[in-house]
Amino acid sequence: MKISVIGCGYLGAVHAAGMAELGHEVVGIDLDQAKVNRLNSSEAPFFEPGFDDLLVKTAERLTFSTDMADVAEATVHFLTVGTPQSPSGAVDMTYVNRAVEALLPFLSGESVVVGKSTVPVGTAQRLKEMIETTGAKLMWNPEFLREGFAVQDTLTPDRLVYGIQSGDESLVEVLDEVYRPIIERKTPRLVMDYATAELVKVAANSFLATKISFINAMAEISDAVGADVTMLADAIGHDPRIGRKFLNAGIGFGGGCLPKDIRGFVQRADELGVGEAVEFLSDVDAINLRRRARVIDVLSEELGDLSGKTVALWGLAFKPDSDDIRDSPALDIAESIAKAGATVQAYDPEAMGPAQKRLASNDISGISLHESPEETLSGADALVVATEWKTFREWDPSDAPGRLVVDGRNCLDRERWKSAGWRYRGMGRT
Ligand code: UDX
Repeated sequence: MKISVIGCGYLGAVHAAGMAELGHEVVGIDLDQAKVNRLNSSEAPFFEPGFDDLLVKTAERLTFSTDMADVAEATVHFLTVGTPQSPSGAVDMTYVNRAVEALLPFLSGESVVVGKSTVPVGTAQRLKEMIETTGAKLMWNPEFLREGFAVQDTLTPDRLVYGIQSGDESLVEVLDEVYRPIIERKTPRLVMDYATAELVKVAANSFLATKISFINAMAEISDAVGADVTMLADAIGHDPRIGRKFLNAGIGFGGGCLPKDIRGFVQRADELGVGEAVEFLSDVDAINLRRRARVIDVLSEELGDLSGKTVALWGLAFKPDSDDIRDSPALDIAESIAKAGATVQAYDPEAMGPAQKRLASNDISGISLHESPEETLSGADALVVATEWKTFREWDPSDAPGRLVVDGRNCLDRERWKSAGWRYRGMGRT
């Protein structure tokens, strides 16, 4: 099949290569010429495990372009452009609207447009009305991929969700054909209306965010009474109705999805007159943001006034196995420590480039980037571990003992660090 993928960010670029891996001829469209050039040289424009290899492997069937006219031969067009947060907290639909307008001249009665971007409920209906004069049809097919596992989640998703409008049942076969190898593996495939398909995505992310904030609320209580939130999570996680996944307390969630999706959902529900139903998501957001401040409190409790102090910071990405710093708790904490007057010496295995750009554009002083974890420790009064990269979890604490470590992700072997001579403070555990 000939397929186009419009928008080549973390989602679209991997989706394009994934569709080529399934055997299709794919063109990916993006406005950023530098990114398109890199992708055409089979080089990933961001860090994502396995993605470089997939680009090389699928190069014969995969091209990228900045020219929308190159989608002309495709029959299935995936919409994967970004939907960032606007200053009001609502979802910014500019890129989706522009992409659909640019696509219109290339649509016909044979075309199927498949929306994957995360959008406010009601968008699919509106886009369907935009494209229907061309005779093209629209489906909504939300994506659940996690950064760090994007290739795996694209090729072996745990479910497929198809949103269609009634009367368009024949479209199911078209998308089944696109995803044939995935369907043949008996992956659950659920067909529903547009609004439900759109809601599935924000509901899933809201649930995950709520689960993380729940355990972080328990971390706050644990700190007040001297309990251990990790043991608590292990104990409640054994109940299969609760489950242990996404119960890791720490400095909270960040990234390009969870924070913006819950805020966008609150706004959309308000517009629909059902804001009360998801009011709790504002608490989920507030609990999450308090986690970042907690690190500064712990540092101040232990070191007193932070001005003039030096703090080593391990991790800048919002999660391990990613170079993404969007709404990264780690970077936010770095900025707060620097604002409190301390010098921050930071290192991340993959996010140094993006962090460098962000620090330069924000004109923030007091944060320096270093070549290795060891280098950040030179003259440091404390170490904050903000992203649970494997290399940090496995680092030998006996190499530089004698100071404070704040384990922002509760990811270190506490006993090992303590017996190596470090003063250990976790999040919801001491
Ligand atoms: C998320 C969803 O998981 C994915 O299904 C959706 O398609 C996009 O949004 P992603 O943003 O890649 O994926 O990251 P995720 O693994 O969900 O982690 C989000 C944040 O939560 C990270 O900052 C992570 O460190 C944090 N987190 C996760 C916790 O603080 N505790 C946990 O127990 C799990």
